[in-house]
Amino acid sequence: MSGKGGVGKSTVTACLADGLTRLGVRTGVLDADLNGPCMARMMGVRDHKPSPKNGAMIAARNAYGVPVMSMDMFLPEDETPLVWEASSQQGAYTWRSMVEMSALRELLSDTDWGDLDVLLIDLPPGAERLQNLADLLPDLTGAIVVSTASQTAMTVVSRSILMALNVANVRIAGVVENMSTMICSECRCKEQMFIGTEAVEELAERHGVPYLGAIPFNVTLADFLETGRSYIEVHAGHPAANAILDVAQRVHFWLKNQSK
Ligand SMILES: Nc1ncnc2c1ncn2[C@@H]1O[C@H](COP(=O)(O)OP(=O)(O)OP(=O)(O)O)[C@@H](O)[C@H]1O
Ligand SMILES: [Mg+2]
Repeated sequence: MSGKGGVGKSTVTACLADGLTRLGVRTGVLDADLNGPCMARMMGVRDHKPSPKNGAMIAARNAYGVPVMSMDMFLPEDETPLVWEASSQQGAYTWRSMVEMSALRELLSDTDWGDLDVLLIDLPPGAERLQNLADLLPDLTGAIVVSTASQTAMTVVSRSILMALNVANVRIAGVVENMSTMICSECRCKEQMFIGTEAVEELAERHGVPYLGAIPFNVTLADFLETGRSYIEVHAGHPAANAILDVAQRVHFWLKNQSK
């Protein structure tokens, strides 16, 4: 979650699925962004059509074995918009959000995920999204917060952290800093993308939640996520791959402590 749009929630979800899988954690991905779904594409299963079996839908398995479920797989074309048609305009706003909640509930509960240790849920932007999810899943283990180092993003993210802790009553596994640095694919030198990049770590500290590390902006990573390939496998040892593994390790550590 983030609260802020475009900070890299879906990217971090895909990276974590890759990282946790490398660590031997059986990980699944649910795309909770019903209107702007992109996880099927980022995980490389966009062309997969879910098939029903024993009353459930079988999640699509990606190239490195991660089961994925996304509204995207039910839409015929990449550009097909998802339209929730209300019978009248009166009350259509409330009606739409109820239909969205039911659709999400179905994607969650009617999917055959196989045996999983962790299910990552990619939320759409909006501070209230976590609260809605927590209503559906009262035993949600925790939230992973994504932020860039821009002051605008951090202000919105800060508000979402407070909402998660005080309104939704969801524990926070930590904050992932995304795209605050850029690593040149030629010489591997690091460039700052924003002024004051220590601030995301400070933001986590201020709220008393773990700082999970920073994933740099990397054009090759973005390219890999366009086709759902494992960046870590192909670019093992690259600073961006190491950064993703570090974040995955910290998430894994946090999760292990929750189950004690
Ligand atoms: N670390 C990164 N390196 C390269 N590109 C990135 C990185 N993080 C995000 N991007 C790119 O930035 C764009 C936005 O990322 P993404 O879709 O993950 O954000 P989001 O927070 O999920 O957005 P939304 O709020 O719309 O769901 C994408 O095109 C993605 O490829
Ligand atoms: Mg997204």
